[in-house]
Amino acid sequence: MGLHSQRQSEHAEDIYQDPLTETVLPKFQLPADSHPPQVIAQMIKDELLMDGNSRQNLATFCSTWMEEQVHEIMDLCVDKNMIDKDEYPQTAEMESRCVHILAALWNSPQAETTLGCSTTGSSEAAMLGGLAMKWRWRALREAKGLDTSKPNLVCGPVQVCWHKFARYFDVELREIPLDGDEVCMNPDKIKDYVDENTIGVVPTLGVTFTCVYEPVEQVAKVLDAIEAKFGWDIPIHVDAASGGFIAPFVQPDLKWDFRIERVKSINTSGHKYGLSPLGVGWVIWRAKEELPEGLIFNVDYLGGNMPTFALNFSRPGGQIVAQYYNFMRLGFAGYKGIQEACMDTAQWLADEIAKIGPFELFYDGRGGLPALSYTLKAGDHGFSLYDLSDRVRMRGWQIASYPLPSHRHDTVIQRIMIRHGVSRDMAALLLEDIKAAVSHFTQYPQVNSGATQSFNHS
Ligand SMILES: Cc1ncc(COP(=O)(O)O)c(C=O)c1O
Repeated sequence: MGLHSQRQSEHAEDIYQDPLTETVLPKFQLPADSHPPQVIAQMIKDELLMDGNSRQNLATFCSTWMEEQVHEIMDLCVDKNMIDKDEYPQTAEMESRCVHILAALWNSPQAETTLGCSTTGSSEAAMLGGLAMKWRWRALREAKGLDTSKPNLVCGPVQVCWHKFARYFDVELREIPLDGDEVCMNPDKIKDYVDENTIGVVPTLGVTFTCVYEPVEQVAKVLDAIEAKFGWDIPIHVDAASGGFIAPFVQPDLKWDFRIERVKSINTSGHKYGLSPLGVGWVIWRAKEELPEGLIFNVDYLGGNMPTFALNFSRPGGQIVAQYYNFMRLGFAGYKGIQEACMDTAQWLADEIAKIGPFELFYDGRGGLPALSYTLKAGDHGFSLYDLSDRVRMRGWQIASYPLPSHRHDTVIQRIMIRHGVSRDMAALLLEDIKAAVSHFTQYPQVNSGATQSFNHS
């Protein structure tokens, strides 16, 4: 009997007496031999301890708390490929129901017949929305024999997915800069950015950097006036990655969706305030005519003939089923209750943070997403917001500090996202840790306080 199997049989109950745990796992090559699953799994779980604790990640917009039933559904669907619509017709059916539920939630005039699809997240959904606008613009120009070589897209401070769309699909991105004390796209500036080559304008409902809603209705009015003057019929795609699941429940009177005729498509992240596990987004068109035929592929080699429009092919089905579960489980009242509780907690925390002293609220959680952000008041406080992020990280909290985009690059803010699962009690614990950090810095001021973190907006 070799050493490994001898020790294994002697100490079968104790993973840390397995000889493998006395080795360092290879980092650049496949191991030569197989290993017992429970030992490797334990070693990997141990390594994962070094990741941040997702529940304390208040930098992310994404779901980090899920009901037990969602875990069960994900387990049940782990082997289902959502693209095999013929093999898994009920998963496909649930995807389609989600599309129509969202279309109705966003007031599509043809909610039961319009088109839309699930995606990996808002990024893929945004690209599909962008592509549809490019196709539509190009077809109209080609029909008139006009040049189609210089498409552009106009937006405010957008998430990186729109920069990717522009670069990957050869579209000029005209990002209207933030000036003075602007926190989002100023519709009055739109006229200086659009022209006959503008494929669309993208307002964001819940700007990633500031959490406010861009004024979609005002944007539409400006574009109506531009059409009346120049004849350019410029569509709107709303990036509602987060706001698409907040506004309908918390700000129902706000007109931002298909109630506005110029809004042709909307994307959202099911895995953000849609409350589903990571890996699902949605894009919905106002009516099926708005999705150009040329973007639809008919796939027939899997045993059926199914129209698909997506950048990806294979993708897990569980997130879609979990989205449908959330819709059926929570209903309108459930989503409303959860989102309102998040709004209340964000506003409470914002008010408490303002009382500490050195912070000036930038966004107080009112009117946009359930979040808050603040800057440091002028003067030397003995720390920067980056120092504060680092300090509270010692307690496990992950809080984003970053400069605002474009012309407001000199303003650094710290942002806290409040999501389902971030209770008032957790917020109060964080508040105590922020207070403790501030008093630590008062006692031990930082000499070279400066940026130490890089940060991804997700
Ligand atoms: C406004 C906005 N659009 C798009 C995205 C990208 O979303 P996803 O991570 O679902 O691809 C984000 C992510 O934070 C966002 O805030």
